[in-house]
Amino acid sequence: MPDRSSLAIVLAAGEGTRMRSSLPKVMHPVAGLPMIGHVLKTATGAGIDRFAVVVGNGAGAVRDFAAKAAPSAVLVEQVERLGTAHAVLAAREALEIAADDVLVLYGDTPLVTAETLARMRAELAQGASVVVLGFRPEVPTGYGRLIERDGQLLAIREEREASDEERAIGFCNAGLMGFRGETILALLDAVENNNAKGEFYLTDAVEIANRRGLGVVAIEADAAEVGGVNTRAELADVERIWQDRARQAALLAGVTMTAPETVFLAHDTKLSRDVVIEPNVFFGPGVTVDEGVVIHAFSHLTGAHLERGAEIGPFARLRPGAQLGPKSKVGNFVEVKNAEIGAGAKISHLTYIGDAKVGAEANVGAGTVTGNYDGYDKALTVIGEGAFIGSNSVLVAPVTIGDGGYVASGSVITEDVAPDALAIARGRQVEKPGWAARFRELKAKTKRVRV
Ligand code: UD1
Ligand code: CA
Repeated sequence: MPDRSSLAIVLAAGEGTRMRSSLPKVMHPVAGLPMIGHVLKTATGAGIDRFAVVVGNGAGAVRDFAAKAAPSAVLVEQVERLGTAHAVLAAREALEIAADDVLVLYGDTPLVTAETLARMRAELAQGASVVVLGFRPEVPTGYGRLIERDGQLLAIREEREASDEERAIGFCNAGLMGFRGETILALLDAVENNNAKGEFYLTDAVEIANRRGLGVVAIEADAAEVGGVNTRAELADVERIWQDRARQAALLAGVTMTAPETVFLAHDTKLSRDVVIEPNVFFGPGVTVDEGVVIHAFSHLTGAHLERGAEIGPFARLRPGAQLGPKSKVGNFVEVKNAEIGAGAKISHLTYIGDAKVGAEANVGAGTVTGNYDGYDKALTVIGEGAFIGSNSVLVAPVTIGDGGYVASGSVITEDVAPDALAIARGRQVEKPGWAARFRELKAKTKRVRV
């Protein structure tokens, strides 16, 4: 809807008591991103121009996050929690700047889709003054009931005020609402608090709009999309629904997963076509996987980029800044952090590569460790193109192994190695002929025989 201006007001002032947490509720992550981040991201994707985020008192973490996630967002504090209409009115200054569409979203309802926001806006574009997002929960207890006649939404009745007949209605208020920008302030200023909770209910705007002869409609969303989070159990439900959606999207986009239900994706995981992911793989934030990459079972990735045809695992750990070149290989029990691995390089077993550059076609043997940290600073290890690092070597950074250089197994390398040179940095082998036989003879004479 490029021709209609828009404002989203995100309510995030909830205390979240039932989460039993020192973290504000909307900061609890789903797929590695705080819930409120999902809402801001979805709304941005749906083309919303402006944001106001309503936070509670002392919600510094929410403010800081929202300021980063949506830099243009206006942050307002609802000092006293006097109800949902009161919360929206905390953003009065943002509402005074004209917008065609105003959406009220909840920071604790992270699964709402851009398509649903677009459907809400379409109702406003077609002339409704208020649009309410409805759903049919399995158990409607606790939700406002939607009272409709001939396609017009007449009222939203809160559970506490509803008659038995109204309580029998299965169509409920998800909480998200859309308003024509011109009318929202006048409607909300008319809301009163003479109800069971003594709160200013946003939902009362529906009856007020009806009294003024304005068009009010309810549209229906899938219950899985509008589930709000009040408890850790609901947070886990939302995570599961999010993961299912993301897995389905990945499968449709050409990713093979043999057991998708065991693969956990992050909010920003990027998977290309023909990526193969074996069971039990975990993605933290910031991972990009290019075409044809194979991720074997039990791998854990965060902040990594895997280029075409790279192969990792089983049991690989890629930490932030791991960049795997085309057709490179990171095998079992290998950890890579802040390191560029060149095309075709192989690090096949039991290795730690941190703060390093590994050249194309290099071969890093089992048990190699970069000694990148002295307790104060991190230092760089450079392994040249085609270099060969023998097993069980320690490369004490800063250090460079030249192109084509060779490190003997078991070396502790503290000085640079020239290209094409061999470095041996271990005790020289000593051989004592016949020593073992003499030793056994001696023991046979002196040792008491056990009976
Ligand atoms: C609200 C709706 C109800 C709907 C339900 C869906 C009203 C009056 N009722 O009820 O029809 O079925 O959501 O979940 O709107 N908040 C503030 N400041 C306040 C009060 C609330 O920021 O002063 C925030 C809460 O943190 C929460 C949201 O607004 O995120 C909803 O408030 P809540 O008190 O939970 O409303 P419900 O009783 O659930
Ligand atoms: Ca609620």
